[in-house]
Amino acid sequence: MSEFFTNYGSLIVFLHIISAVVWVGGMITIRFTVHYSIQEIEEPKIKLGRTLEFLRRFFNIVIPSIIILLVTAVMMSIGLGLKESPLYPIVHIKEAIWSVMTVIFALIYLKRNKAQRFFNDGDFKSAKEALVPLALWMIPTNIALGLIALYLGVTLRGL
Ligand code: HEM
Repeated sequence: MSEFFTNYGSLIVFLHIISAVVWVGGMITIRFTVHYSIQEIEEPKIKLGRTLEFLRRFFNIVIPSIIILLVTAVMMSIGLGLKESPLYPIVHIKEAIWSVMTVIFALIYLKRNKAQRFFNDGDFKSAKEALVPLALWMIPTNIALGLIALYLGVTLRGL
């Protein structure tokens, strides 16, 4: 693995960073720009329909990013020999952050699917209620955790 990392190290770090950019940057964009823009729509059917649609499209790019983040993280941990480093606890912290972020993402995914079912049945009130926690705490929590993971990545880079 160390030899593999010597040859493809730049590509692995690049894939790790671009995945973090897509996931964390994407969440910041949808929460702080798209979300407020959509709130301006008065007709509930269009408002909810567009929200469900952009979230579905966002998931299509986030799911590969989550997987690539983990695969490249494992490659870096082994390839950079982080086990022997005094900064190894940071690797564990990042693994824990990734795990919590992924669990929250799974909840977001399930809530959107639930909201879609209510929407398809014409129950817009329940669809809205299912989506509220996403904007209220789920996406903000994942943004905060993602930013911490980013900062810890910069710390590990010093190795
Ligand atoms: C799964 C656990 C993770 C591990 C073991 C891990 C490990 C690492 C390591 C070793 C580096 C340093 C690469 C280098 O030497 O250039 C790094 C950088 C980075 N990581 Fe992670 N990471 C993990 C999860 C995450 C997550 C969840 C995010 C954000 C969502 C993230 C974002 C970044 C970024 C942006 C950098 C680049 C920092 C820079 O270029 O200065 N990582 N990570």
